[in-house]
Amino acid sequence: MKFSRVALTIAGSIVTTRGMTEVFTGSFTQQEPISDAAIEAAVEVMKSGRLHRYNLGPDEVGETSLLEQEFAAYVDAKYALAVASGGYALATALRAIGVKPGEKVLTNAFTLAPVPGAIASMGGVPVFVGVTEDLTIDLDDLAAKVGQAKVLMLSHMRGHLCDMDRLMEICNAAGVTVIEDCAHTMGGSWNGVPSGRHGLIGCYSTQTYKHMNSGEGGLFVTDDDDIMARALILSGSYMLYGRNGTVPPVEVMERVKYDTPNVSGRMDHLRAAILRPQLANLATQCAAWNARYDAVEAELRGTPGLAIVERPDQEVYVGSSIQFLLLDWSDAAIADVIDRCLQRGVELKWFGGAEPTGFTSRYDSWRYAPSERMPASDRVLKGIVDMRLPLTFSVEDCELIARIIRSEVSAVYQAM
Ligand SMILES: Cc1ncc(COP(=O)(O)O)c(C=O)c1O
Repeated sequence: MKFSRVALTIAGSIVTTRGMTEVFTGSFTQQEPISDAAIEAAVEVMKSGRLHRYNLGPDEVGETSLLEQEFAAYVDAKYALAVASGGYALATALRAIGVKPGEKVLTNAFTLAPVPGAIASMGGVPVFVGVTEDLTIDLDDLAAKVGQAKVLMLSHMRGHLCDMDRLMEICNAAGVTVIEDCAHTMGGSWNGVPSGRHGLIGCYSTQTYKHMNSGEGGLFVTDDDDIMARALILSGSYMLYGRNGTVPPVEVMERVKYDTPNVSGRMDHLRAAILRPQLANLATQCAAWNARYDAVEAELRGTPGLAIVERPDQEVYVGSSIQFLLLDWSDAAIADVIDRCLQRGVELKWFGGAEPTGFTSRYDSWRYAPSERMPASDRVLKGIVDMRLPLTFSVEDCELIARIIRSEVSAVYQAM
């Protein structure tokens, strides 16, 4: 075929046609710019010079406390605490519950390193629970292992919510406390209940690749007075906790304040200032992600050899990334798909790769937390292909990306 090269611009991304072959040239790590309103709020904080959350004028509430109040209202929680990162929120949850060194903590085999890392940072011992083809925690495996621990750190990995009603039944019956890792589910819900609000504590991340972007940052929510009181002291409130956005009753604070160590991890006003306008706009952003997710899913559906991850009706998801399965494919064939897509500008992540790369990893990558092999989960993990959907991509970009994946998966599948 005669080589021809035509470039045209679709919603900010360049689509190049080489002969009959479409190529995508957008960046999978490019998030949207911070809005003017957020920049202005941040500049005000910088002009004030008062960046530390407790550096406040006499009647000033401050950006960080306002964010806490607004986020608590958003997820309908009694308390919210703004902290330095999602990982810090997870470790704070374990500390606030009182997990001791050597104690086992149940968690997902399919998650990212900060989750078992938070458990290990406490001297805890992660006990991994398997993953299903829906990419959620295997509830039968959970039911089998639930007697081994008193805490479950549940990761809603890549935004997939399991049957939370059944999960809570299993955990409540066994007296297991649930901490929810909602790094990928801010804005999502199960059966009308926001993610992070089924368990005792919900932890969220506001790191750049999450649903609100302050570079780094996290939020911790609970309805429990004692847990919040301990989290407040833990976060480094220097007995200034009365200035926080949501504060437990004085007698509760008095009870815990001398017995809880300071493990500083506060959020500052600058990040909170950037986050507040984003929280006000979160519903619009979630709808924009889902338009992109749905466009990719529609194009991929029916591709031979490729399994779509079906989303249950009870789940409100936020499609900031999409996963599909190449189940029972050989390593070489999956690697070929990844490579062929990359050559056409489509960056896919593969959880089944021999070595963890970028933001992928599996339970067997964490050698500090040895686990028995889980063959059914290994089969799923080996087939998971993952792709970011930043909002800098238009819906048309997403359609193009999905067409590229579809054609490369089909080509490799047909040759198998
Ligand atoms: C599933 C999951 N949980 C927790 C975290 C921790 O968030 P942070 O980076 O804010 O510490 C991340 C971050 O990538 C994550 O992907």
